[in-house]
Amino acid sequence: MNYIGSKIKLLPFIEESILSVVDNNCKVFCDLFAGTGTVGSRFKEKGFKVISNDIQYYAYVLNKQLIDNHKELNFFSLGDEIKELNDCKLENKKSIVCKYLTNLKGKKSFIYHNYSPSEKSERMYFTNENAMKGDASRSKIEDWYQSQKITKNEYYFLIASLIKSMDKYANVLSVYGAYLKYFKKRAQKQLVIEPHKLIINKQSHEVYNQDANKLIHEIKSDILYLDPPYNSRQYASNYHVLETIAKYDKPKLYGKTGLREYKHQRSLYCLKEHATKSLEHLVQHANTKYIFLSYSNEGIIPIKEIKRILEGKGEYGYFETKYSRYKSDSKRVYKANFTIEYLHYCKCD
Ligand SMILES: C[S@@+](CC[C@H](N)C(=O)[O-])C[C@H]1O[C@@H](n2cnc3c(N)ncnc32)[C@H](O)[C@@H]1O
Repeated sequence: MNYIGSKIKLLPFIEESILSVVDNNCKVFCDLFAGTGTVGSRFKEKGFKVISNDIQYYAYVLNKQLIDNHKELNFFSLGDEIKELNDCKLENKKSIVCKYLTNLKGKKSFIYHNYSPSEKSERMYFTNENAMKGDASRSKIEDWYQSQKITKNEYYFLIASLIKSMDKYANVLSVYGAYLKYFKKRAQKQLVIEPHKLIINKQSHEVYNQDANKLIHEIKSDILYLDPPYNSRQYASNYHVLETIAKYDKPKLYGKTGLREYKHQRSLYCLKEHATKSLEHLVQHANTKYIFLSYSNEGIIPIKEIKRILEGKGEYGYFETKYSRYKSDSKRVYKANFTIEYLHYCKCD
Protein backbone atom coordinates (compact mmCIF):
# COMPACT_ATOMS: atom_id res chain seq x y z
CA MET A 1 0.00 0.00 0.00
CA ASN A 2 1.20 3.47 -0.88
CA TYR A 3 0.48 4.87 2.59
CA ILE A 4 1.29 8.44 3.70
CA GLY A 5 4.27 8.25 6.04
CA SER A 6 4.82 4.53 5.37
CA LYS A 7 8.13 3.40 6.82
CA ILE A 8 8.62 0.55 4.37
CA LYS A 9 11.63 2.15 2.66
CA LEU A 10 13.09 3.29 5.97
CA LEU A 11 12.79 -0.10 7.69
CA PRO A 12 16.50 -1.05 7.52
CA PHE A 13 17.46 2.38 8.96
CA ILE A 14 14.85 2.13 11.74
CA GLU A 15 15.62 -1.48 12.63
CA GLU A 16 19.41 -1.05 12.69
CA SER A 17 19.23 2.18 14.69
CA ILE A 18 16.85 0.75 17.30
CA LEU A 19 18.83 -2.46 17.72
CA SER A 20 22.06 -0.50 18.14
CA VAL A 21 20.60 1.31 21.17
CA VAL A 22 18.46 -1.19 23.10
CA ASP A 23 19.68 -3.89 25.48
CA ASN A 24 19.19 -7.63 24.92
CA ASN A 25 16.49 -8.00 27.56
CA CYS A 26 13.91 -6.09 25.52
CA LYS A 27 11.01 -8.39 24.61
CA VAL A 28 7.99 -6.12 24.06
CA PHE A 29 7.83 -3.71 21.12
CA CYS A 30 4.97 -1.22 20.91
CA ASP A 31 4.04 0.43 17.60
CA LEU A 32 1.62 3.10 18.84
CA PHE A 33 0.81 4.77 15.48
CA ALA A 34 0.99 1.57 13.47
CA GLY A 35 -0.65 2.50 10.12
CA THR A 36 -0.07 -0.46 7.80
CA GLY A 37 1.87 -2.32 10.50
CA THR A 38 5.20 -2.21 8.67
CA VAL A 39 7.44 -1.53 11.65
CA GLY A 40 5.63 -3.72 14.19
CA SER A 41 5.59 -6.67 11.80
CA ARG A 42 9.37 -6.44 11.32
CA PHE A 43 9.82 -6.69 15.10
CA LYS A 44 7.25 -9.51 15.25
CA GLU A 45 9.40 -11.38 12.73
CA LYS A 46 12.39 -10.79 14.97
CA GLY A 47 10.64 -12.58 17.85
CA PHE A 48 9.32 -9.62 19.86
CA LYS A 49 5.86 -9.56 21.42
CA VAL A 50 4.21 -6.66 19.61
CA ILE A 51 1.60 -4.21 20.86
CA SER A 52 0.10 -2.34 17.95
CA ASN A 53 -2.38 0.52 17.79
CA ASP A 54 -3.98 2.99 15.40
CA ILE A 55 -6.93 5.35 15.64
CA GLN A 56 -8.23 4.34 12.18
CA TYR A 57 -10.33 1.17 11.96
CA TYR A 58 -8.90 0.03 8.58
CA ALA A 59 -5.42 0.24 10.15
CA TYR A 60 -6.68 -1.75 13.14
CA VAL A 61 -7.91 -4.48 10.76
CA LEU A 62 -4.60 -4.55 8.86
CA ASN A 63 -2.76 -4.90 12.17
CA LYS A 64 -5.15 -7.55 13.52
CA GLN A 65 -4.09 -9.57 10.48
CA LEU A 66 -0.40 -8.72 10.26
CA ILE A 67 0.40 -8.60 13.98
CA ASP A 68 -2.27 -10.46 15.97
CA ASN A 69 -2.87 -13.38 13.60
CA HIS A 70 0.04 -15.74 14.10
CA LYS A 71 -1.36 -19.21 13.37
CA GLU A 72 -2.50 -20.75 10.06
CA LEU A 73 -6.20 -20.25 9.30
CA ASN A 74 -8.21 -23.35 8.38
CA PHE A 75 -11.69 -21.99 7.46
CA PHE A 76 -13.09 -25.19 8.94
CA SER A 77 -16.78 -24.29 8.62
CA LEU A 78 -16.61 -23.15 4.99
CA GLY A 79 -15.99 -26.69 3.69
CA ASP A 80 -19.67 -27.18 2.74
CA GLU A 81 -19.75 -24.00 0.66
CA ILE A 82 -16.23 -24.17 -0.83
CA LYS A 83 -15.58 -27.85 -1.62
CA GLU A 84 -11.98 -27.19 -2.72
CA LEU A 85 -11.13 -26.46 0.92
CA ASN A 86 -11.70 -30.08 1.91
CA ASP A 87 -8.77 -31.59 0.08
CA CYS A 88 -6.01 -29.03 0.01
CA LYS A 89 -2.98 -28.19 2.13
CA LEU A 90 -3.62 -25.98 5.16
CA GLU A 91 -1.37 -23.20 3.84
CA ASN A 92 -3.36 -23.02 0.56
CA LYS A 93 -6.73 -22.40 2.20
CA LYS A 94 -6.33 -18.64 2.42
CA SER A 95 -5.84 -18.28 -1.35
CA ILE A 96 -8.78 -20.59 -2.07
CA VAL A 97 -11.15 -18.46 0.01
CA CYS A 98 -9.81 -15.24 -1.59
CA LYS A 99 -10.30 -16.76 -5.05
CA TYR A 100 -13.85 -17.75 -4.13
CA LEU A 101 -14.59 -14.16 -3.06
CA THR A 102 -12.99 -12.76 -6.22
CA ASN A 103 -15.25 -14.94 -8.38
CA LEU A 104 -18.54 -14.06 -6.64
CA LYS A 105 -21.20 -12.45 -8.83
CA GLY A 106 -21.14 -8.66 -8.31
CA LYS A 107 -23.70 -7.03 -6.03
CA LYS A 108 -25.13 -3.50 -6.06
CA SER A 109 -24.78 -2.26 -2.52
CA PHE A 110 -23.04 0.55 -0.59
CA ILE A 111 -19.71 0.62 -2.46
CA TYR A 112 -21.44 0.51 -5.84
CA HIS A 113 -24.03 3.15 -4.94
CA ASN A 114 -21.55 5.60 -3.40
CA TYR A 115 -18.05 5.10 -4.76
CA SER A 116 -18.64 4.24 -8.43
CA PRO A 117 -20.42 6.16 -11.20
CA SER A 118 -23.77 4.43 -10.73
CA GLU A 119 -27.47 5.38 -10.60
CA LYS A 120 -27.05 7.40 -7.38
CA SER A 121 -23.47 8.64 -7.59
CA GLU A 122 -20.97 10.33 -9.89
CA ARG A 123 -17.96 9.36 -7.79
CA MET A 124 -15.25 7.45 -9.60
CA TYR A 125 -13.23 5.74 -6.87
CA PHE A 126 -13.85 2.34 -8.50
CA THR A 127 -15.29 1.07 -11.77
CA ASN A 128 -18.86 -0.23 -11.45
CA GLU A 129 -17.64 -3.77 -11.87
CA ASN A 130 -14.98 -3.55 -9.14
CA ALA A 131 -17.38 -1.73 -6.80
CA MET A 132 -19.94 -4.54 -7.24
CA LYS A 133 -17.24 -7.14 -6.64
CA GLY A 134 -16.21 -5.25 -3.51
CA ASP A 135 -19.81 -5.24 -2.27
CA ALA A 136 -20.30 -8.94 -3.00
CA SER A 137 -17.13 -9.88 -1.10
CA ARG A 138 -17.61 -7.52 1.82
CA SER A 139 -21.24 -8.65 2.36
CA LYS A 140 -20.24 -12.31 2.08
CA ILE A 141 -17.48 -11.86 4.70
CA GLU A 142 -19.99 -10.18 7.03
CA ASP A 143 -22.60 -12.93 6.49
CA TRP A 144 -20.03 -15.65 7.20
CA TYR A 145 -18.95 -13.87 10.38
CA GLN A 146 -22.47 -13.12 11.64
CA SER A 147 -23.53 -16.75 11.03
CA GLN A 148 -20.33 -17.95 12.81
CA LYS A 149 -18.96 -19.71 9.74
CA ILE A 150 -15.64 -17.94 10.15
CA THR A 151 -13.67 -17.07 13.27
CA LYS A 152 -12.63 -13.56 14.27
CA ASN A 153 -9.09 -14.26 13.04
CA GLU A 154 -10.42 -15.40 9.66
CA TYR A 155 -12.72 -12.36 9.55
CA TYR A 156 -9.82 -9.92 9.99
CA PHE A 157 -7.68 -11.80 7.49
CA LEU A 158 -10.42 -11.53 4.86
CA ILE A 159 -11.22 -7.85 5.44
CA ALA A 160 -7.51 -6.96 5.45
CA SER A 161 -7.06 -8.86 2.17
CA LEU A 162 -10.07 -7.06 0.66
CA ILE A 163 -8.97 -3.56 1.78
CA LYS A 164 -5.43 -4.02 0.53
CA SER A 165 -6.62 -5.45 -2.79
CA MET A 166 -9.29 -2.78 -3.38
CA ASP A 167 -6.74 -0.07 -2.63
CA LYS A 168 -4.63 -1.43 -5.49
CA TYR A 169 -7.47 -0.85 -7.99
CA ALA A 170 -8.72 2.48 -6.59
CA ASN A 171 -8.92 5.34 -9.08
CA VAL A 172 -6.93 7.83 -7.00
CA LEU A 173 -3.48 9.33 -6.76
CA SER A 174 -2.74 7.11 -3.75
CA VAL A 175 -5.06 8.91 -1.25
CA TYR A 176 -8.85 9.28 -1.24
CA GLY A 177 -8.99 13.08 -0.85
CA ALA A 178 -10.23 13.07 -4.47
CA TYR A 179 -10.83 10.61 -7.30
CA LEU A 180 -9.55 10.99 -10.85
CA LYS A 181 -11.85 12.28 -13.59
CA TYR A 182 -11.00 9.40 -15.92
CA PHE A 183 -10.30 5.78 -15.02
CA LYS A 184 -6.56 5.20 -14.91
CA LYS A 185 -5.24 1.96 -16.40
CA ARG A 186 -4.77 0.14 -13.11
CA ALA A 187 -8.31 0.99 -11.93
CA GLN A 188 -9.80 -0.47 -15.12
CA LYS A 189 -8.34 -3.91 -14.39
CA GLN A 190 -10.60 -6.45 -12.75
CA LEU A 191 -10.32 -6.69 -8.95
CA VAL A 192 -8.45 -9.76 -7.73
CA ILE A 193 -8.50 -10.34 -3.97
CA GLU A 194 -5.06 -11.45 -2.88
CA PRO A 195 -4.36 -13.04 0.50
CA HIS A 196 -2.79 -10.65 2.98
CA LYS A 197 0.59 -11.64 4.39
CA LEU A 198 0.41 -13.88 7.47
CA ILE A 199 3.39 -14.05 9.82
CA ILE A 200 3.35 -17.29 11.77
CA ASN A 201 5.06 -17.46 15.14
CA LYS A 202 4.52 -18.68 18.69
CA GLN A 203 4.19 -15.30 20.37
CA SER A 204 0.81 -13.75 21.14
CA HIS A 205 0.33 -10.04 20.43
CA GLU A 206 -2.04 -7.16 21.22
CA VAL A 207 -3.78 -4.81 18.80
CA TYR A 208 -5.79 -1.72 19.75
CA ASN A 209 -7.96 0.84 17.96
CA GLN A 210 -7.59 3.82 20.29
CA ASP A 211 -6.28 7.31 20.57
CA ALA A 212 -2.59 6.86 21.44
CA ASN A 213 -2.76 9.48 24.19
CA LYS A 214 -5.48 7.50 25.98
CA LEU A 215 -3.97 4.05 25.43
CA ILE A 216 -0.57 5.17 26.76
CA HIS A 217 -1.98 5.04 30.32
CA GLU A 218 -2.81 1.33 29.97
CA ILE A 219 0.21 -0.24 28.29
CA LYS A 220 3.74 -1.20 29.24
CA SER A 221 6.50 -2.01 26.78
CA ASP A 222 10.29 -2.24 26.55
CA ILE A 223 10.57 -0.33 23.27
CA LEU A 224 7.96 2.30 22.43
CA TYR A 225 8.05 3.29 18.77
CA LEU A 226 6.19 6.49 17.83
CA ASP A 227 5.38 7.41 14.23
CA PRO A 228 2.69 10.09 14.50
CA PRO A 229 1.53 12.20 11.53
CA TYR A 230 3.96 15.06 11.06
CA ASN A 231 1.90 17.45 8.92
CA SER A 232 -1.69 18.69 8.66
CA ARG A 233 -2.99 15.86 6.48
CA GLN A 234 -5.56 13.91 8.48
CA TYR A 235 -5.56 10.16 7.80
CA ALA A 236 -9.31 10.00 8.46
CA SER A 237 -10.12 12.18 5.44
CA ASN A 238 -7.40 10.78 3.21
CA TYR A 239 -8.43 7.13 3.71
CA HIS A 240 -12.21 7.52 4.34
CA VAL A 241 -13.13 5.01 1.60
CA LEU A 242 -10.99 2.27 3.19
CA GLU A 243 -12.48 3.10 6.59
CA THR A 244 -15.98 2.55 5.21
CA ILE A 245 -15.10 -0.69 3.41
CA ALA A 246 -13.47 -1.97 6.62
CA LYS A 247 -16.42 -1.01 8.83
CA TYR A 248 -19.13 -1.50 6.20
CA ASP A 249 -21.39 0.56 8.42
CA LYS A 250 -23.10 2.40 5.53
CA PRO A 251 -22.50 5.91 6.93
CA LYS A 252 -23.99 9.18 5.73
CA LEU A 253 -21.54 10.67 3.20
CA TYR A 254 -20.90 14.34 2.56
CA GLY A 255 -19.92 16.45 -0.43
CA LYS A 256 -18.49 15.69 -3.82
CA THR A 257 -15.82 13.31 -2.49
CA GLY A 258 -18.22 11.45 -0.17
CA LEU A 259 -16.42 12.01 3.13
CA ARG A 260 -17.77 10.26 6.21
CA GLU A 261 -17.98 12.13 9.52
CA TYR A 262 -14.60 11.87 11.29
CA LYS A 263 -14.60 14.33 14.21
CA HIS A 264 -13.72 11.59 16.72
CA GLN A 265 -10.71 10.51 14.59
CA ARG A 266 -9.21 13.94 13.96
CA SER A 267 -5.57 13.67 15.05
CA LEU A 268 -4.15 16.38 17.32
CA TYR A 269 -0.72 15.57 15.86
CA CYS A 270 -1.90 17.21 12.60
CA LEU A 271 -2.74 20.49 14.34
CA LYS A 272 -0.01 23.05 15.01
CA GLU A 273 -1.60 24.30 18.22
CA HIS A 274 -1.87 20.79 19.72
CA ALA A 275 0.93 18.62 18.32
CA THR A 276 3.73 19.55 20.74
CA LYS A 277 1.50 19.28 23.82
CA SER A 278 0.19 15.89 22.65
CA LEU A 279 3.70 14.52 22.22
CA GLU A 280 4.71 15.88 25.61
CA HIS A 281 1.75 14.20 27.29
CA LEU A 282 2.49 10.91 25.52
CA VAL A 283 6.18 10.87 26.48
CA GLN A 284 5.51 11.88 30.08
CA HIS A 285 3.08 9.00 30.58
CA ALA A 286 5.00 6.32 28.70
CA ASN A 287 5.79 3.23 30.75
CA THR A 288 8.75 1.87 28.80
CA LYS A 289 12.54 1.52 28.79
CA TYR A 290 13.19 3.20 25.43
CA ILE A 291 11.26 5.63 23.25
CA PHE A 292 11.95 6.07 19.53
CA LEU A 293 10.24 8.77 17.48
CA SER A 294 10.25 8.93 13.68
CA TYR A 295 9.79 12.51 12.53
CA SER A 296 10.63 14.54 9.45
CA ASN A 297 12.63 17.77 9.47
CA GLU A 298 9.54 19.39 7.89
CA GLY A 299 7.22 18.28 10.69
CA ILE A 300 4.93 20.55 12.72
CA ILE A 301 6.85 20.04 15.99
CA PRO A 302 10.20 21.88 15.97
CA ILE A 303 13.25 19.69 16.60
CA LYS A 304 14.27 21.72 19.65
CA GLU A 305 10.88 20.92 21.23
CA ILE A 306 11.28 17.19 20.51
CA LYS A 307 14.73 17.28 22.11
CA ARG A 308 13.38 19.14 25.15
CA ILE A 309 10.51 16.67 25.59
CA LEU A 310 12.67 13.55 25.29
CA GLU A 311 15.45 14.96 27.48
CA GLY A 312 12.82 15.37 30.19
CA LYS A 313 12.35 11.60 30.15
CA GLY A 314 15.97 10.36 29.99
CA GLU A 315 19.16 10.27 27.95
CA TYR A 316 18.50 11.72 24.48
CA GLY A 317 20.03 10.89 21.08
CA TYR A 318 19.06 10.77 17.42
CA PHE A 319 19.82 9.18 14.04
CA GLU A 320 19.12 10.81 10.69
CA THR A 321 18.88 9.80 7.05
CA LYS A 322 17.96 11.46 3.74
CA TYR A 323 14.62 10.34 2.40
CA SER A 324 12.99 10.81 -1.05
CA ARG A 325 9.80 12.77 -0.66
CA TYR A 326 6.38 11.13 -0.65
CA LYS A 327 4.48 12.51 -3.69
CA SER A 328 0.71 12.28 -3.71
CA ASP A 329 -0.58 15.45 -5.19
CA SER A 330 0.66 17.05 -8.37
CA LYS A 331 -0.58 20.49 -7.25
CA ARG A 332 1.56 20.64 -4.14
CA VAL A 333 4.66 22.77 -4.52
CA TYR A 334 7.74 21.25 -2.91
CA LYS A 335 10.95 23.06 -2.15
CA ALA A 336 13.25 20.03 -2.23
CA ASN A 337 12.93 16.48 -3.49
CA PHE A 338 14.21 14.89 -0.32
CA THR A 339 13.63 15.37 3.37
CA ILE A 340 15.63 14.43 6.42
CA GLU A 341 14.02 11.68 8.40
CA TYR A 342 14.99 11.63 12.07
CA LEU A 343 14.79 8.83 14.54
CA HIS A 344 14.92 10.55 17.93
CA TYR A 345 15.28 8.37 20.98
CA CYS A 346 15.67 8.38 24.70
CA LYS A 347 16.73 5.81 27.27
CA CYS A 348 14.17 6.42 29.98
CA ASP A 349 15.33 7.14 33.55
C1 LIG B 1 2.92 8.16 9.78
S1 LIG B 1 1.52 7.08 9.90
C2 LIG B 1 2.22 5.57 10.46
C3 LIG B 1 2.82 4.81 9.33
C4 LIG B 1 3.29 3.43 9.71
N1 LIG B 1 4.49 3.46 10.52
C5 LIG B 1 3.53 2.61 8.46
O1 LIG B 1 4.71 2.35 8.11
O2 LIG B 1 2.55 2.26 7.80
C6 LIG B 1 0.68 7.70 11.29
C7 LIG B 1 -0.50 6.87 11.78
O3 LIG B 1 -0.94 7.41 13.02
C8 LIG B 1 -2.34 7.26 13.11
N2 LIG B 1 -2.79 8.25 14.12
C9 LIG B 1 -2.88 9.59 14.01
N3 LIG B 1 -3.25 10.13 15.18
C10 LIG B 1 -3.38 9.12 16.07
C11 LIG B 1 -3.72 9.06 17.44
N4 LIG B 1 -3.99 10.15 18.14
N5 LIG B 1 -3.74 7.84 18.03
C12 LIG B 1 -3.48 6.72 17.34
N6 LIG B 1 -3.15 6.72 16.02
C13 LIG B 1 -3.10 7.92 15.39
C14 LIG B 1 -2.85 7.49 11.70
O4 LIG B 1 -4.10 6.90 11.51
C15 LIG B 1 -1.72 6.85 10.86
O5 LIG B 1 -2.04 5.53 10.52
